[in-house]
Amino acid sequence: MGKKILITGGAGFIGSALCRELSALGSDVFVLDDLSFGRRELAPVDDDHFHRVDIRDRHGVMEVFRAVRPEQVLHLAAIHFIPYCNEHPVAAADINITGTINVLDACASAGTVGQVFVASTAAVYPIADGAIAEDHPLGPLDIYGITKLATEKLASEFHHRTGTPVVIGRFFNAFGPNETNPHLIPEIQKQVRAGARTLRLGNLDPKRDFIHTEDMSRAMSALLSCGLQGVETFNIGRGIEYSVREIVEAFARQLGEPLHIEVDAARVRKVERMHLLADVSKLKRITGWEPRWSIDEGVATLLTEDVAF
Ligand SMILES: NC(=O)c1ccc[n+]([C@@H]2O[C@H](COP(=O)([O-])OP(=O)(O)OC[C@H]3O[C@@H](n4cnc5c(N)ncnc54)[C@H](O)[C@@H]3O)[C@@H](O)[C@H]2O)c1
Repeated sequence: MGKKILITGGAGFIGSALCRELSALGSDVFVLDDLSFGRRELAPVDDDHFHRVDIRDRHGVMEVFRAVRPEQVLHLAAIHFIPYCNEHPVAAADINITGTINVLDACASAGTVGQVFVASTAAVYPIADGAIAEDHPLGPLDIYGITKLATEKLASEFHHRTGTPVVIGRFFNAFGPNETNPHLIPEIQKQVRAGARTLRLGNLDPKRDFIHTEDMSRAMSALLSCGLQGVETFNIGRGIEYSVREIVEAFARQLGEPLHIEVDAARVRKVERMHLLADVSKLKRITGWEPRWSIDEGVATLLTEDVAF
């Protein structure tokens, strides 16, 4: 059997893609997830490799680590849909901060963990116009970004306390199969798959850096296998930004039919970043990683994906 790897949040959108990637590479993958947002069937592991535990349950998390004895841990469990976090700030802090403390303390006490990856976000950056590199000043705009900045600080403190190498991945906007949260692309997918050709959407001009979950998973895997020491932070994005209109155009191209847009005032966000673009030169330089999925290729699979709406 390959290396024992524990993925928290492995039944979620990105975590399940990561499970597939690491299992395909021969790792022995275990999942810890409370299934609050994820789905059991998304995590491609046997029942004896799946632990349904809430990361706020400190004792439960410690028990899982004692049973699994993982060599590497990728901590992705969190709540992250920004409107949900804004409405539930206490839960966001409990899960993303207290939960992270529990996972990192379990890493420290297991005695087997040689490397840790934590999922952060581009939401730790303030509003900026050009491509953002990792050394850009930080300034989260919302509760979610604040909890993830705390996650980064806790991961750094964990490294200084234990000496265990830590990689912090700042994810930009993920897209791909099995989305669990009502983000822009699954919303367009849902409306198009339901037969709509005039889509009702919010702000149309903001641009985002969309990266396919399979490309993200290869990036995480590459970061774990290139011998990094200390605490290292990497943007994980595609390095290209697309507006909402451009995403709709990609759907229209793949559908082979025109799509129209009607602005739905109820969906317009009052505070909106106009740009969010990753500078991924550090990731490429250190790992040799290159993205494989274009927006059009990813969108094509979403038009035929077997989804339950
Ligand atoms: N999706 C994106 O575009 C994006 C962007 C930036 C950062 N991220 C980060 O990536 C990670 C994964 O996000 P995702 O898009 O796959 O979301 P997701 O909601 O699909 O995955 C999160 C997983 O964590 C689990 N979880 C939530 N609360 C938990 C708890 N208390 N205990 C145990 N498990 C719990 C959920 O059930 C889910 O399976 C998160 O840390 C998120 O903050 C995602």
